[in-house]
Amino acid sequence: MDHQLLSLIHQMTREEKIAQLMQLAAPFFEGGENEGQITGPMASMGISEQTVRNAGSVLGLAGAKQVIDIQQAHLKSNRLGIPLLFMADIIHGYRTIFPVTLAIGCSWDLELAEKSAEIAAKEAAVSGIHVTFAPMVDLVRDPRWGRVMESTGEDPYLNSLFARAFVRGFQGKDLSTETDRVAACVKHFAAYGAAEAGRDYNTVDLSERQLREFYLPAYKAALDEGCEMVMTAFNTVDGIPASGNKWLMRDLLREEWGFDGVLISDWGAVKEMIPHGVAADEAEAAHKAIQAGVDIEMMTPCYINHLDTLVEIGAVEERLIDEAVLRILRLKKKLGLFEHPLRGADPERERAIVFCEDHRQASRKLAEKSCVLLKNDNNVLPLKLGQKIALIGPFAKSGDILGPWSGLGSKEEAVQLYDGMVSIMGASLLAVAEGCGVETAATEQQMNEALQIAHHADVIVLALGEHSDMSGEAGSRADIRLPQAQLDLLAQLKSLNKPMVTILFNGRPLDLHGVVDQVDAVLEAWFPGSEGGAAIADLLFGNVQPVGRLSMSFPYSVGQIPVYYNAFNTGRPKGAPDAQERYISQYLDIPNEPLFPFGFGLSYTTFAYEDAQLSAETITEEQTLTIKVRVSNTGNVPGEEVVQLYVRDMSGDVVRPLKELKAFRRVSLQPGESEEVCFSITEPQLRYYHADYKYASDAGDFIVYVGPNSRDTMELRFQLVKNKQEMSEA
Ligand code: GLC
Repeated sequence: MDHQLLSLIHQMTREEKIAQLMQLAAPFFEGGENEGQITGPMASMGISEQTVRNAGSVLGLAGAKQVIDIQQAHLKSNRLGIPLLFMADIIHGYRTIFPVTLAIGCSWDLELAEKSAEIAAKEAAVSGIHVTFAPMVDLVRDPRWGRVMESTGEDPYLNSLFARAFVRGFQGKDLSTETDRVAACVKHFAAYGAAEAGRDYNTVDLSERQLREFYLPAYKAALDEGCEMVMTAFNTVDGIPASGNKWLMRDLLREEWGFDGVLISDWGAVKEMIPHGVAADEAEAAHKAIQAGVDIEMMTPCYINHLDTLVEIGAVEERLIDEAVLRILRLKKKLGLFEHPLRGADPERERAIVFCEDHRQASRKLAEKSCVLLKNDNNVLPLKLGQKIALIGPFAKSGDILGPWSGLGSKEEAVQLYDGMVSIMGASLLAVAEGCGVETAATEQQMNEALQIAHHADVIVLALGEHSDMSGEAGSRADIRLPQAQLDLLAQLKSLNKPMVTILFNGRPLDLHGVVDQVDAVLEAWFPGSEGGAAIADLLFGNVQPVGRLSMSFPYSVGQIPVYYNAFNTGRPKGAPDAQERYISQYLDIPNEPLFPFGFGLSYTTFAYEDAQLSAETITEEQTLTIKVRVSNTGNVPGEEVVQLYVRDMSGDVVRPLKELKAFRRVSLQPGESEEVCFSITEPQLRYYHADYKYASDAGDFIVYVGPNSRDTMELRFQLVKNKQEMSEA
């Protein structure tokens, strides 16, 4: 393949080569609905018409007819007939919107996650998209950061499994023949989720060990699954912005990991090296980015305005530009664009496929699995037909349930909670009132209306949360409680002393003080997508069981952040047998533990864990340790449990996490049924980065934890022995 592309590159002028490295948004291109805006942004960026004709790719433009028109116009004006790449953010759906990614993370369902990506790819590809800027696999520990909704959570192992599943769903097996699939672009490389204080675009400063143990594995997993592209992060890593960070991009990504695909900057991230303070001007920003191996500059003109001169003055070798162009053309070739520049774009099929019933049902199923039951006192859930229900709150009849990055999803088309409930119980026993705004206090009339319907109801169902732009990009919040207006509404309704259920629509773990202690039940619904109201209603009435488990901890309060399950023990752990009263690692005013831990979620039934046992007390590097535990459904309705297995290395070359998720198993059990669940552990799963960054395991003591979440576990001990001599001593 390369020899054809190399001869094409040989025919290209330097100007044409550099233009391949530029990505512009839709308004720059003729033939599209946005035509006419070309002079605006282009003029301000100093980009000529000629440059636009030579551009390599387009950002954020979709729609089969529009893509066909633009691609055909482009091919006529591009001297060598090099097709455009069309890229867009298809994060959790194209027009059929799935739950936000953090919700998908709480489903622990890799098959449905893969299916959601496959459907998103199908709708995007038929609408002309070639590449999606997903999966986002940034590990997150700080719910103040608005983009936690885009991640699958705080665990590197679970995030890695989801990264692989999303890549499989988006890309399929062969992009050149499967035109219903799109190339994936894993992001944001690297560690964007570690932005200091949860403030978006803020400094990230981690040890290489933290990077390698926690933040990097999911990117690597996506690439091991064949992900075609990588996107740089806005943040610094060790003091250098990712887009100019040669250690991160050349030494680690390309040399150590062997990635030879396309590396694209995030929006404007190349030029942002100037405000970051590592580039005096656009020319220096271009110089640093090309040296770091960034192939495509998204939406800023540093490359287009300065690379030619940098080559002329000998500051940049032209071969770096040739290598970048080759990677881009190779991706176009892999997508079959030279032979079929319109690829899957098909207005007829688009009308039949996009937002079709099957896709909406898949979204509904994933939404059912993504909701997490956090509290259910007095079995107030499931609701019963015949009950008089007051549905109150700003999300009772709201379509703002798609969340950020919801592509072409339409809030008007989303199934609202009220509609979902009516379809199950009818409208006669269901009264509804908004009660207050998302952030605006109730008017006297709103409050009276809410109190009035609540007064006549058997059960109050509160639909509360954040509107979708209170999270997502640039959606950081320092106070992560529900807005005061909603807390006030809840407090007023509390005074009626009626059973109260709260459904939460939000993009981050919240500080639930003033909520969870005030109501009987809490169902975390996140932003559940196009079929959200239907899925939640089925859960509320017990037509489906709640099976979600948190993939990110809920803090006791914002003061605890960052709080995550796989933390280190410290030298003065609270609760140790010999712990002092005061001089230990603790707060004076709140507990150390999160409000709800990683892996937590309730069902409508109960489960018992018994007879946990290990196949041996010691294993060698060659042996497999088997862990068995009997799980029983001790309730009177069917249920699905996510049995989780964690390991702790009691003494390492460096400190080791209190727990590390190593495996999980979903089991569905009828009332009274039980199942022996088996796991296995082998030596490679016990490896970690030593002080010298050697990746290896140690002989020594380990604890295996098994249970329904990262807190309520049974523990068993074993030893890893490394040689015959130690074996005899064991
Ligand atoms: C945004 C986001 C990135 C997205 C890109 C293109 O700023 O950081 O995730 O893919 O720009 O929209």
